Amino acid sequence: MKRWSLPVAAPAVGAIVFLLSTTAIRLAAAAAVEHTFVVSKMNMTHLCKETLVSVVNGQLPGPAIEVTEGDSVTVHVVNKSPDNITIHWHGVRQRLNCWADGVPMITQLPILPNHNFTYRFDVAGQEGTLWWHAHVSCLRATLHGALIIRPRDGAGSYPFPKPHREIPIVIGEWWAKDLAKVGRNMSHSWFDDYSSASTINGKLGDLFNCSGTLKAKWKMEPGKTYLLRVINAALFSEYYLKIARHKFTVVAADANYVTPYTTDVIAIAPGETVDALLVADAPPGRYYMVALPNQAPLPDTQTPEYSTTGMVQYCNDHSPGNGAAVLSSSRSAEEEEEDGEGGPSGDVPVAPEMPDKHDTITSFYFHSNLTSLRHRRRRSQVPARVDESFFITLGVGSICRPGYPACKRSGNSESLLVATMNNVSFQLPAVTTPLLKAHYYHTNAEDTLQVLPAKPPRVFNFTDRAFIPYGPKEGHLEPTSKVTMARRFRHGTVVEVVFQSTALLQGDSNPMHLHGHDMFVLAQGLGNYDAAKDVARYNLVNPLVKNTVLVPNLGWLALRFVADNPGVWFMHCHYEFHLSMGMAAVFVVEDGPTLDTSLPPPPVDFPTCGHDNNQLQNEFYLATEKTEVLGINEV
Ligand code: C2O
Repeated sequence: MKRWSLPVAAPAVGAIVFLLSTTAIRLAAAAAVEHTFVVSKMNMTHLCKETLVSVVNGQLPGPAIEVTEGDSVTVHVVNKSPDNITIHWHGVRQRLNCWADGVPMITQLPILPNHNFTYRFDVAGQEGTLWWHAHVSCLRATLHGALIIRPRDGAGSYPFPKPHREIPIVIGEWWAKDLAKVGRNMSHSWFDDYSSASTINGKLGDLFNCSGTLKAKWKMEPGKTYLLRVINAALFSEYYLKIARHKFTVVAADANYVTPYTTDVIAIAPGETVDALLVADAPPGRYYMVALPNQAPLPDTQTPEYSTTGMVQYCNDHSPGNGAAVLSSSRSAEEEEEDGEGGPSGDVPVAPEMPDKHDTITSFYFHSNLTSLRHRRRRSQVPARVDESFFITLGVGSICRPGYPACKRSGNSESLLVATMNNVSFQLPAVTTPLLKAHYYHTNAEDTLQVLPAKPPRVFNFTDRAFIPYGPKEGHLEPTSKVTMARRFRHGTVVEVVFQSTALLQGDSNPMHLHGHDMFVLAQGLGNYDAAKDVARYNLVNPLVKNTVLVPNLGWLALRFVADNPGVWFMHCHYEFHLSMGMAAVFVVEDGPTLDTSLPPPPVDFPTCGHDNNQLQNEFYLATEKTEVLGINEV
């Protein structure tokens, strides 16, 4: 095996390695794809202001990893930034390979400044769009990129017409802020930080002043079909995506094929991916793509959020040198520079009519209309039996600050806001051995974990909007505790979870993401879940298969998954503020009876030392009094 040494001009080495590996993909069925990710700080100017941001290989979004199903991926991460980093391969199942999952303190120690770490994983049994991102608080706002998995038998084996081109669309935010500090503030419940703009492929588009002339822009050939690979990498918002006078046909979500679904609007929450076909069938012209963030209406707190634009421009098929020649070149279909505002016919670009920013029902319909494609390569079937059931409420509560044991609540500074699952808020463990390693070597570190309750401590009208503002109504429901909570599953356990979004101090939706497993989405609804009538609505035939499920605003979602991937897996809301505030838990999946159902030992180069506790002191550790969770009464 090739030995890894620190490159002298790392980004250039990364680029060469990448060229070699993409060539390899064309020649062999299963290839080794190798990348070098150099994480560093770089000044970028947007909105007339220079901001120092963390980036991979000097790019925002970071480099796309493109693989063929079955490939092995190696990524050498070189941390030249001042912050601790890990990279998570969002949605990659990592079968028997939890070691490469990239969650600080859970699967590995963070990569310290001036340290390296090599991730190795296979991409097997999945096709479509996934992505990668830093798993360190807010830093993922600029440390992310696409992870594209194409079928092993070539583009002809897509279960839909072969697209003329593929177009990655990464929706993100621009923060004119020090994101490491924003992350620390958030985990201390300090919310005064908001993004300054939204972006498509890192570009602000022309709704912003001082944004320069850059917007994401694609030339399209009339009549051709394009595959859009849409990723929501934003920290804060779900987005509606539209292109004027065009329709999308959704063909995959979270790297699982779906029954083709035609719509003029895509709703995509943080962590989700959507693959959609777009036929260039409008009259020649220029058409705005708009990504609009939605947010829960009043009385929810209204935060500044911004729409962003890109543009689709039809090639003028009468002008020589344009048209097919441009599109068949090996360059990306995306244009890097504005080439003047004159469209093919000098026309004004057409803008789409967007949903209202408080419209949350369009997202509900979009998500509930998707089912999975019954496809020759889809092997997994939703299990009919359930071994363990959970009813998990999602909301916000508070804990007392140290020194205020009988603290005042409802926004008083003696208490801290935290986000909860079944009224418990997750605390990242302050350990020097990551939980996965402790689990593997059977050390007693796991003894400090508290049990994630299977039910909320109390039943009440979870979706009563009167709980949203501070006050006597929510006050008695506000006290919660903060601990490292986990649940342990025997290998092969079929787990059913009903997530219930609550109105506790907010009315948000919750994109819940499970590492290492895909989940079958059985049903979703608005209001309170009622087993007596809702179980009958479960789709056990062709449920959507997802790694991130959007639990609707003041609604619920029922899912099943099979805990058959041994390891220690994070499960959390993909809104960064909810995650930083503790809407998370750890699922420990035990080994099965055989070697190929058991977690292998850590890779030989897995770092075992070199960290001391001081180096690890960072935004993860919130000094709070440990409160006991065991006293929770189950209803
Ligand atoms: Cu995309 Cu744990 O995250």
